[in-house]
Amino acid sequence: MKFFSTSCLVSVASLPVLAAAHAGLNEFAVRAQHARQAPPESVTVSGGSTTSGVAPATTILTPAVPPTTVPVGGTTTQAASGTSIVSAPPVIPTTPSTTYTFSLLSTNPTAVPLSNIVSTAPSSVTRPLDTIFTPGSVPTFLPGAPPLPNGDYPALDRLPPTDSPEVQQWIQEVANSGVTIPNIPVNSLGGCPNNSAAAADTSRCWWTCGGCTRPTDITECPTPMTWGLTYDDGPSFYTSDLLNYLDQEKLKSTFFVVGSRVISFPSILQTQYMGEHQIAVHTWSHPQLTTLSNDEIIAELGWSKKVIKDVLGVTPNMMRPPFGDIDDRVRAISIAMGLTPVMWTRISPMATFDTDDFDIHGGLTTVEHVLQNWENILGNVTTRKSGFIVLEHDLFQQSVEVATGYILPDALAHKPPFTIQPVVQCLNKPLKDAYIETNDNKTNPPAQSGIAVTLSSGAPGSVQATGKADSSNNAAAPFRVNTGLLAASLTTVVGLAAGLAAVL
Ligand SMILES: *[C@@H]1O[C@H](CO)[C@@H](O)[C@H](O)[C@H]1NC(C)=O
Ligand SMILES: *[C@@H]1O[C@H](CO)[C@@H](O)[C@H](O)[C@H]1NC(C)=O
Ligand SMILES: *[C@@H]1O[C@H](CO)[C@@H](O)[C@H](O)[C@H]1NC(C)=O
Ligand SMILES: [Zn+2]
Repeated sequence: MKFFSTSCLVSVASLPVLAAAHAGLNEFAVRAQHARQAPPESVTVSGGSTTSGVAPATTILTPAVPPTTVPVGGTTTQAASGTSIVSAPPVIPTTPSTTYTFSLLSTNPTAVPLSNIVSTAPSSVTRPLDTIFTPGSVPTFLPGAPPLPNGDYPALDRLPPTDSPEVQQWIQEVANSGVTIPNIPVNSLGGCPNNSAAAADTSRCWWTCGGCTRPTDITECPTPMTWGLTYDDGPSFYTSDLLNYLDQEKLKSTFFVVGSRVISFPSILQTQYMGEHQIAVHTWSHPQLTTLSNDEIIAELGWSKKVIKDVLGVTPNMMRPPFGDIDDRVRAISIAMGLTPVMWTRISPMATFDTDDFDIHGGLTTVEHVLQNWENILGNVTTRKSGFIVLEHDLFQQSVEVATGYILPDALAHKPPFTIQPVVQCLNKPLKDAYIETNDNKTNPPAQSGIAVTLSSGAPGSVQATGKADSSNNAAAPFRVNTGLLAASLTTVVGLAAGLAAVL
């Protein structure tokens, strides 16, 4: 797909946009550059000529050569830079001695030292280009040349326009779905404190402010000691590290992927899919969905479905709202588009099963705090009457490192053991039920088909209290909210909103 080879460049530079949206920091690229280990300490050569009497100086920098062999028969010369160079013959000379006499007129002051440009050097992270050209840019230096082709996709990490033919068609499909979209006002940014009327209006069932869920939401796995493993916001540079670990431990996960990142890393998405992980939707540009118009929500979800279908050939039927930001309007649109919302487990208005791993990268928390959060989650799961779902991410190196280095090994060593599965399988459904094209609709009827009652913003009678969080996906049941969460929701509005950055 030629589109991806060019758009990849766009996406790398766009990663800071997403990072900024999440954590208010814009330092992804800088952090990424520093993320890799420093090159091995070594002599440097910069500028001028280098003469090595017996063998290339790089020989002695190879870690495989024991240090004791280095001085034997070695010679010392002065490089042009004045740095001392020790060179030595190979332990078993297999190549003839070579003398290099090149002389460079100039070198880059920030050049990687020649002695570090060796096969054993660690790889560095891909860096963004200085300049990115948007589709449609005109090469004015070539008179008569056409504009750069307009990609088939909207700009990355931005709300897609709603006037495109694709979005117009999806809007029509939602209108034809039979699902009534409740007339709930669009929220402002700023979470619960900036939307006090919305937060107080429990009939909207806005999860962010109090944790209201509907029976159509998946919030946990039904079987005790079962963990529905999920990672959000990828694919990313670091997803491969996570995948390798999951492979090693024969673990499968659900990945809630961002459409813009799928454009960036299509082959990683294919590896995830072919590796029998579950792929699900996490929007195109990672906005707070309750702050968008109906058409904008449709564009966000529609483009994500489309890019996944284009890369994999199948369309997911589950979605996770970024920041968990969902109310009955967002629910209805998701369901009308064939997407069942998947949250993460919430045990009280203030406590969700969020490791907060996302915030290590931005400096808003520490790895120790994340592991403390994990311990608290573990302390709450063993006595649960049902399984659980935890919020984790694979966008940043730090969250992948804490997952592969600590959280997953800890979970695997747990006694009694956990059953760790993708969400669809923790619901006791086969993996084929996770995609619209392979779902036979028997064990997992399409989201729309279960809508026996219209999601309503109004009638008090539509809010039927129950005493416990509902783990089923029984869409035929009347919509209801959790009594405990409702009662506490108003008092916790401020606290939750203050933690919005931590609830992703
Ligand atoms: C609160 O909402 C208003 C619009 O009603 C918006 O202009 C403002 O930026 C929001 N505040 C925050 C902190 O997001
Ligand atoms: C359960 O979670 C709560 C909230 O995070 C925490 O305060 C508590 O310590 C946890 N319980 C155990 C036994 O870890
Ligand atoms: C399952 O339901 C979807 C959505 O209604 C439909 O497009 C698809 O054809 C159905 N699949 C089968 C095998 O009936
Ligand atoms: Zn996210």
